[in-house]
Amino acid sequence: MASEPHTLTSRTLTIRRPDDWHVHLRDGAMLHAVAPRTAAQFARAIVMPNLSPPVTRVEHAIAYRKRIMAALPEGTAFTPLMTCYLTDDSDPAEIVRGFREGVWAACKLYPANATTNSAHGVSDPARIRPVLEAMQRAGMPLLIHGEVTDPAIDIFDREAVFVDRVLTPLVRDLPALKIVMEHITTAQAVDFVAAAGTQVAATITPQHLHLNRNALFAGGLRPHAYCLPVVKRETHRMAVRAAAVSGSPKFFLGTDSAPHTPGAKESACGCAGIFNAPFALESYLQVFEAEGALDRFEEFASEHGARFYGLPLNAGTVTLVRDTVRVPGHVAGVVPFHAGEMLAWRVAAT
Ligand code: DOR
Ligand code: ZN
Repeated sequence: MASEPHTLTSRTLTIRRPDDWHVHLRDGAMLHAVAPRTAAQFARAIVMPNLSPPVTRVEHAIAYRKRIMAALPEGTAFTPLMTCYLTDDSDPAEIVRGFREGVWAACKLYPANATTNSAHGVSDPARIRPVLEAMQRAGMPLLIHGEVTDPAIDIFDREAVFVDRVLTPLVRDLPALKIVMEHITTAQAVDFVAAAGTQVAATITPQHLHLNRNALFAGGLRPHAYCLPVVKRETHRMAVRAAAVSGSPKFFLGTDSAPHTPGAKESACGCAGIFNAPFALESYLQVFEAEGALDRFEEFASEHGARFYGLPLNAGTVTLVRDTVRVPGHVAGVVPFHAGEMLAWRVAAT
């Protein structure tokens, strides 16, 4: 479907204001440091609930949403869309109430211990079956961190095994449940989502479009290329790139921007997460240009996600200008994705 705002010249690309369908804004000082970066690029964002303690109750989400807005400069036009962190003890009635009241946009399923602050996650999706059934009835989306945690499974195979063992039966048993497979990294996830019904979609991050697993070891151990799901081999990166630029409404932008302090990353046990918020649009655009798909960027960034969530498209536009920018070594005290590299586009001042 063509959309009004899209204009492409040899020097500029103007698109409808985009949304980030997966971001970690954190809390406290880090929230204040990073939230303005996301709000500068995106009109809305799906905010992950893996705080410590996690955002599990409606009143936690209302309070967190207020803290997010308080961390932004006066008058910033930004809407945080809150998510509920599922645990084995989640209450279907409270979740559906929060959704109906417009507090929750979705629930997030972290398999217990799959990633940062997921210790309270779900030990087995079978245990939250009543929650999933209530969500299906209410039309509430389930956002999934799709990795098995079985230590016997090779870390590079955890997403593909999740698709087989968990996602396939889930989609079969709850055929009307809206599901987003978050931050997909493999050909298996791409193929599954592409073949499923329209109720199943996926987000794609910049790092999984740019990096393959060699990036983790390029000239030495590279903690700033480490995120979860971990970047995969080149054939998978190519499959994820093809999905992003395919024009399919099932694939949309979700940065998974996940800041950690430099000390927490550059450590004997470094945290997973890549802080890509400051140059997210520029980073994606580089990929769409290399794939000859600049004309498909607007749908990926500004249309597919909103339609999946049943939300209106944003008013207003953002213009990107073809102009070399150097990504600084630090932004807001955090090492950003592409630190020290040159990018070929920049967001024009509005
Ligand atoms: O790399 C990641 N970082 N993946 C996740 O799933 C969580 C995130 C974080 O919160 O740091
Ligand atoms: Zn995430």
